[in-house]
Amino acid sequence: MSTQTTLTQFIIEQQRNTAEASGDFTLLLNDIAAACKRISHTVNRGAITGMLGSAESENVQGETQKELDIVTNDIMVDALNWTGHLAGMVSEEIDDPIAIPSEYPKGKYLALFDPLDGSSNIDVNLTVGTIFSILTSTEGVDAKLSDFLQQGTEQVCAGFVLYGPSTMMILTTGQGVNGFTLDQDVGEFVLTHPNMTIPEDSREFSINMSNQRFWEPAVQQYVEECIQGEEGPRGENFNMRWVASMVAEVYRILTRGGIFMYPFDSRDPSKPGKLRLMYEANPMAFIVEQAGGVCTTGRQRMLEVQPTDIHQRVPVILGSKNEVNRVVSYHQE
Ligand code: AHG
Ligand code: MN
Ligand code: MN
Repeated sequence: MSTQTTLTQFIIEQQRNTAEASGDFTLLLNDIAAACKRISHTVNRGAITGMLGSAESENVQGETQKELDIVTNDIMVDALNWTGHLAGMVSEEIDDPIAIPSEYPKGKYLALFDPLDGSSNIDVNLTVGTIFSILTSTEGVDAKLSDFLQQGTEQVCAGFVLYGPSTMMILTTGQGVNGFTLDQDVGEFVLTHPNMTIPEDSREFSINMSNQRFWEPAVQQYVEECIQGEEGPRGENFNMRWVASMVAEVYRILTRGGIFMYPFDSRDPSKPGKLRLMYEANPMAFIVEQAGGVCTTGRQRMLEVQPTDIHQRVPVILGSKNEVNRVVSYHQE
């Protein structure tokens, strides 16, 4: 008999330690895992499906959608809307909250997701992923827009699935962070990376340097000091990485530490950052904190930002504790 722990087994065992566990949550997570396996398969088939490239549409953020942004969104919605565990959904790709069709029962959970993160990487065959966040709502009632506007501290679960050389799910329910690898042969996620932690120190930073002229002084100073290396005030050399897929960036940081920044920039006053709070920043913040790291806007703990809009953008600085705290201190100067 195999000694490998499957995702389902892991969640059931975790639930047994939780007083208010109903079993509903295990089923919801299984539905998300099933949807992500389907997405993994679709993404993996690449050009064979004829679904690479852009669609002829824009999302609410004014970004041109990729064909696969739409397809993966539909996979998530179709997998989750009928099962009776959700009271509503929010997706990066859909302007308004997605209602549960009237013929299906409403559950007590809300699912918020970025169905395909890093989708600009699809056409060049680099790692992409799905990010999700679970909140609770009133059971049996259709969720209203205002029901979604909860601080990140209210998340009961957050995770992301990475479609890279291997497909992996990284998950937290507030009891640490665990990584599962999809065994393609049997179609199960198995626990391969228990208790992931982020080293407190790191000498690797991650930022899109082409935006440098739009950054604030605090981020300018931090990056300048990294680049000066041994000759600068830090007295050490730094390395840089930019995948342009937040999922890949956060996974690297969970593996070997580092700092990732998509900071405030002055390009467009209506957009205080690029990444979205509800289905990118908050789930990643929950995971990063649970792994011992820090996630902030530069001025506030991410999980305490009060949302005002389901698609609002925020500056994001996350990763190894001592490096992120250094950037925060530069903001205070
Ligand atoms: P999405 O594909 O869901 O729109 O998100 C892409 C995000 C994030 O994953 C990544 O860190 C960042 O955008 C990349 O931005 P640049 O294109 O500015 O490098
Ligand atoms: Mn994204
Ligand atoms: Mn996306």
